[in-house]
Amino acid sequence: MPTQIGLISLGCAKNLIDSEIMLGHLQDEGMTLIPDAELADALIINTCSFIDVAKDESVGTIIEAVNARQEDPAREKQKIIVAGCLSQRFQKDLPGLLPEVDAFIGLDQITDVASIVRETLGRNLEGDGSLDTVTAKSRYIPDYTTPRFRLTPQHMAYLKIAEGCNHTCSFCIIPKIRGQHRSRTQESIVREAKGLIAQGVKEINLISQDTTYFGMDKWQGLGNRPNPTSGVNSEKGESLASLLRELNALEGDFWIRLLYTHPAHWSDELIETIAECPKVARYVDIPLQHISDHMLKEMNRKTDGKYIRDLLQRMRDGIPDLSIRTTFITSFPGETQEDHDELLEFIKEFKFERCGIFQYSKEEGTRAYKKEDHVHHATKKKRHRELSSVIDKVAIEVNESQLGKKLRVLVEEEGIARSMWDAPDIDGRIFVPIDLPVGEWADVMVTDHRGYDLIAKSLD
Ligand code: F3S
Repeated sequence: MPTQIGLISLGCAKNLIDSEIMLGHLQDEGMTLIPDAELADALIINTCSFIDVAKDESVGTIIEAVNARQEDPAREKQKIIVAGCLSQRFQKDLPGLLPEVDAFIGLDQITDVASIVRETLGRNLEGDGSLDTVTAKSRYIPDYTTPRFRLTPQHMAYLKIAEGCNHTCSFCIIPKIRGQHRSRTQESIVREAKGLIAQGVKEINLISQDTTYFGMDKWQGLGNRPNPTSGVNSEKGESLASLLRELNALEGDFWIRLLYTHPAHWSDELIETIAECPKVARYVDIPLQHISDHMLKEMNRKTDGKYIRDLLQRMRDGIPDLSIRTTFITSFPGETQEDHDELLEFIKEFKFERCGIFQYSKEEGTRAYKKEDHVHHATKKKRHRELSSVIDKVAIEVNESQLGKKLRVLVEEEGIARSMWDAPDIDGRIFVPIDLPVGEWADVMVTDHRGYDLIAKSLD
């Protein structure tokens, strides 16, 4: 009987790819993934630790699994293995805090998962204690040859083009967890994309911590250090623009979607590339975090309000029919009423097609953690409410502007589809007739809207 593995994958799409890589390696070693965690010989929980709510969810999931094992005699021998950003971030403390966990896997051990599972199955927690395999700094990056068992639907996939982050945003812990930026080679990504297209994938979502920084880590070795705000010249090295052009030239009917771009690394070359590549979705995910110069400086975002406004205008002018998705952080330490008002006005004026707002979360190990002028929680809530209400109003206006439009959509599941303007698991849905085949393209016309979602009828 092969070893049966249960898996719970939390956190973002980058973590999901790590889960897929672990499953690929386990499958190569003859182990089987089963949907029913109760029956698993080993249950892997791939965790997130970005902000408090994510940490709470991860710890809660681990404790739930430990309790379920204690209460269910059939699970008595089950091994619980914790992987991902929680075990990487809290590598020193976690084994002491969660002694019921049989093994901890760091970000660089995902390709060793099969041997870690085997070793864990042969150990006794009471006698041997937890197996801790986490190494200090994350340096790993996958390749097109890396075994991977996809967890997304047949028609869509994430593709990790780089790992790590060189930014020092003062609120963010991710560079400390995921390490310095390292890009894959363009060739490796293109080969993986070809494989995905051959499997029937119709939407490739390019991800990393900062997709716009793709290739730039290697340029420094070429003596061509990029200037973050003046755009880049890809003649001397690989860049997101050169990658998009090569992916766009691949045969097949598919979309390429760009997620997690950083405003500091956008260039006119990238804007022109998107405009000229019909397979690249008219959709840009660009977390801006704030618009006031004061806040952007405190957050160490390497941009200012004028730069951001100018960039957004160049994007809108250069890429017809573009949908811009962004997120902001409200109530960062030191945020004044003027900063808040400026953000509120900016959201009202600019009318982002897609917009999200998060309350600042104080994270140990970040620069902002030590700041003293934290915003009172009542003010935080009030500001969050005000911004959310403006965002909701803009979303309705945007949806109203879609009425009567003809859209090409990808049918996600029975009765639900997405257009180029909707990223999976992030944006709204389009309700379509249930007889449209799942995983296929369809032509529809928007007839109505409900909140963030659209309703459409088939044109086929
Ligand atoms: Fe993603 Fe959470 Fe790690 S957001 S990078 S899984 S800390």
